[in-house]
Amino acid sequence: MPERNFFDLHSHLLPGIDDGCERIEETIACLKQIQAAGFVGSVCTPHVCVSSFLENTPAFIEEQLQRWSTIVEREVPGYQLWTGGEVRISDHCIADLERHGIPTIGPGRCVLVDYFGRHWPDCGWETIEYLQSEGFQPVLAHPERMDFNDEEWQAVIDRLETLGVWLQGNLRCLAGYEGSLALARGMELLKSDRYRIIASDLHGTHALDERLRGLNAIEATVGEEQLHQLLHHGPKEVLGLAG
Ligand SMILES: [Fe+2]
Repeated sequence: MPERNFFDLHSHLLPGIDDGCERIEETIACLKQIQAAGFVGSVCTPHVCVSSFLENTPAFIEEQLQRWSTIVEREVPGYQLWTGGEVRISDHCIADLERHGIPTIGPGRCVLVDYFGRHWPDCGWETIEYLQSEGFQPVLAHPERMDFNDEEWQAVIDRLETLGVWLQGNLRCLAGYEGSLALARGMELLKSDRYRIIASDLHGTHALDERLRGLNAIEATVGEEQLHQLLHHGPKEVLGLAG
């Protein structure tokens, strides 16, 4: 396999702190599997501002990475890990971020946000505006999974892009395992070159092979060069490592 040097900027690798990996053994198994697929680094992005995981503050997430760093270095030598967070948009997330701090995707100024709901909420626009006013670059996770009707979905994506929000696609959606709507919307964004990055959003060893099949789907659709852009150059830019 040629040198891929991919970076995965959205993953639930830190064990036991959200709905991702449950134990460090599972984390290590995931890392070995994605390393074999050509990844050289990951950002750990546990859920943040989600009612069931309110203890996931930037300081706590950093502490958790430190806690496991020795065993990761021993088991998966040379693999780079950074901290981040996946900020759930809600009517209380700005207050949570002001209280606990804003988790960036690794060392850069980008912040991963996600949203689940039937309609895009006013607090979604407010959260984007808040992050930008504080000097951060918002990155919306898996926009293809937002299942608004076509008219609303197109309008929200268009406005987010106009506002300068970057879009992150999910490998599993592009492999077709998240339903036909997510696949169709994901392929539309991929073919029209509207994704800044693609990431795994892995939650453990479960379905990791399905996620990794997304790499083949991307290459088959837009070619190897664009695959490299979305998994190497784009992520380096988000991490602030480009240049
Ligand atoms: Fe996620």
